Amino acid sequence: MAIGQLAVASLPVVACRPEVDGAAAGRLQAFVATWGLDWVEAPGESPARFTLVIDQGRIGLIPPRDRPDLGSLPLVIDFADDPRFARPLARKDALARATGWKGGYRPPVVDLTTGLGRDAWALASGGCEVTAVERHPVVWLLLTDAIERAAEDPALAAIAARIEPVFGDVLGAEPPALHASEETVWYLDPMFPERKKSALVKKPMRIFHQLVGEDPDAAALFAWARTQPGARWVVKRSPGAPTIDATTPDIDYRSGRLRFDVYLG
Ligand SMILES: C[S@@+](CC[C@H](N)C(=O)[O-])C[C@H]1O[C@@H](n2cnc3c(N)ncnc32)[C@H](O)[C@@H]1O
Repeated sequence: MAIGQLAVASLPVVACRPEVDGAAAGRLQAFVATWGLDWVEAPGESPARFTLVIDQGRIGLIPPRDRPDLGSLPLVIDFADDPRFARPLARKDALARATGWKGGYRPPVVDLTTGLGRDAWALASGGCEVTAVERHPVVWLLLTDAIERAAEDPALAAIAARIEPVFGDVLGAEPPALHASEETVWYLDPMFPERKKSALVKKPMRIFHQLVGEDPDAAALFAWARTQPGARWVVKRSPGAPTIDATTPDIDYRSGRLRFDVYLG
């Protein structure tokens, strides 16, 4: 069963009661009420579960205390704090080329697997209007907290305004309605299997993998996207990974540890 069809209460997540009020605390309280999570008074009080906390005015996710391999620092999305976003995405970047930037043209993008929002933010930083779809409720909370904080930051507000977050799963029982045209670029970056040498993977990413798991329905998502109007379909893979299905991409762009498989309309 896809995670979007699960009640979040069945996930191993609790929330630490905020000590001070503020916008992030309000978002956390609303989330707890909506999804029926348990409150704890301190992180680690529920040692087998993840804990949502307020960390410097941001919502963060602390791994279970009985998983020391995941560290003790919270997973937080912060577009202001991430050196990767110090400059807008450049036109020569593989992500920009894969999504079909030309001259001043920036296509509208539907990111069907937004996750921590790094690709969505990079695309929006360069001028794309991005519809950002995410089905995991906790990832959705971290993502929307980051976008709403960015919207309040004068240096980031214009980028945040180009991202429309959409909760849900087009393959789920209640699929969200998405607007697409012949210009739309469909973007997919499903979860890779976790690397065996986990010392190479940073702890926040291990928290993310542990929370979300893999996306076994990635090929079905791609097949669904291919039925939609659009200009191109872009799938992010690791360089040695197989293609998402038996279809051969029209182009592939490579950059370091990444490959973008591009399928044209
Ligand atoms: C590898 S992460 C994406 C990372 C992202 N590209 C980034 O830059 O941070 C994959 C995400 O896609 C989400 N996902 C996978 N299949 C989905 C679907 N059918 N609908 C919505 N979200 C999906 C997962 O919950 C996960 O958060």
